[in-house]
Amino acid sequence: MSLSFVFLPAIEVLGILATAIVLWFGGRAVGSGAVTLGVLVAFLSYVTRFFDPVQELSRMFTTLQTAMAGGEQVVNLLDTVPAVLDRPNALELPEIVGRVTFDQVSFRYRPELPDVLRNVCLEIQPGQTVALVGPTGAGKTSIGNLIARFYDVTEGTVLIDGIDVRTVKQRQLHQQIGLVPQDAFLFSGTIADNIRFGRPDATDDEVAHAAKLANAHDFIMAKPDGYATRVQEGASNLSVGQRQLVCIARAILTDPRILIMDEATSNVDSLTESLIQDALRTLLQARTAVVIAHRLSTIRNADLICVVQDGQIVEQDKHAELLALNGIYAALYQRQFAE
Ligand SMILES: Nc1ncnc2c1ncn2[C@@H]1O[C@H](COP(=O)(O)OP(=O)(O)OP(=O)(O)O)[C@@H](O)[C@H]1O
Ligand SMILES: [Mg+2]
Repeated sequence: MSLSFVFLPAIEVLGILATAIVLWFGGRAVGSGAVTLGVLVAFLSYVTRFFDPVQELSRMFTTLQTAMAGGEQVVNLLDTVPAVLDRPNALELPEIVGRVTFDQVSFRYRPELPDVLRNVCLEIQPGQTVALVGPTGAGKTSIGNLIARFYDVTEGTVLIDGIDVRTVKQRQLHQQIGLVPQDAFLFSGTIADNIRFGRPDATDDEVAHAAKLANAHDFIMAKPDGYATRVQEGASNLSVGQRQLVCIARAILTDPRILIMDEATSNVDSLTESLIQDALRTLLQARTAVVIAHRLSTIRNADLICVVQDGQIVEQDKHAELLALNGIYAALYQRQFAE
């Protein structure tokens, strides 16, 4: 990189210098009548023609260097061994009904880090909607990560339909779990590609149908290119709420037995917010759902609400019962209500 800092300007200076020399000596030669003006002009154009490609070459060299640095990063990434691997004798995971069990689960992201979950016990029946609430950093997203086995537990067991998630093929596990992440990730490609991600064989009609159910259809159609709109770097041409709507459409299309919805923490405008809430109602029907909620209005009707604090589930019950308990949930709820 540092080479191109010197290289490009050096070539530029050399080009100017050559022109100056030709002008100086050529000018004198024309003055003394040794050459004609036409010859000098021709010579000048040769000098420019000579240096143009050289400059172009040095620019290409700079591009090449950048590309090589990028390529190196890609290769490094491809060489990374995933944190979680299938066991050599991993079992086939049959179609699940969607019971989720946490049996005395403790978890830390790396051995040298402190526990983020401690002794978590949780039982979710098929078809139930369970809400996780609690302060930031409590461990809510981590619980979701363990259900999908993005990480392995440190102690205890996570079971789906009574089967330890570490014993089955990850591919089959992930096919049956839908995830709407907190910071909705979209990759480059069109909006349609992003919705179709979990089911590449879905038709355009199916994609549009899922987007309609997700309340994403209208904003997509409002874009000049509709479903063919390209997602820019970092999805900067979509708002946070719109990104979540696209992820909800993606989840609806794959129709998973278990859904993990991690509500966006960043500000979502109130119109998009209500579109998300509405889409969520569709998405939660007829499947097991874990909803990580930051706005408690979302989850009043959940079958079970768990308050997560400091890596532990400190309260769990239904909305009315938790209010009556007058503990942490009641305090959280009253605070949001006051706002
Ligand atoms: N990939 C990671 N590596 C190491 N530590 C992590 C990682 N992800 C989260 N943590 C830590 O684990 C703890 C729990 O994080 P988690 O993301 O589960 O919280 P959360 O309840 O989802 O918070 P929020 O409401 O802000 O989303 C935090 O202390 C966090 O710093
Ligand atoms: Mg989180």
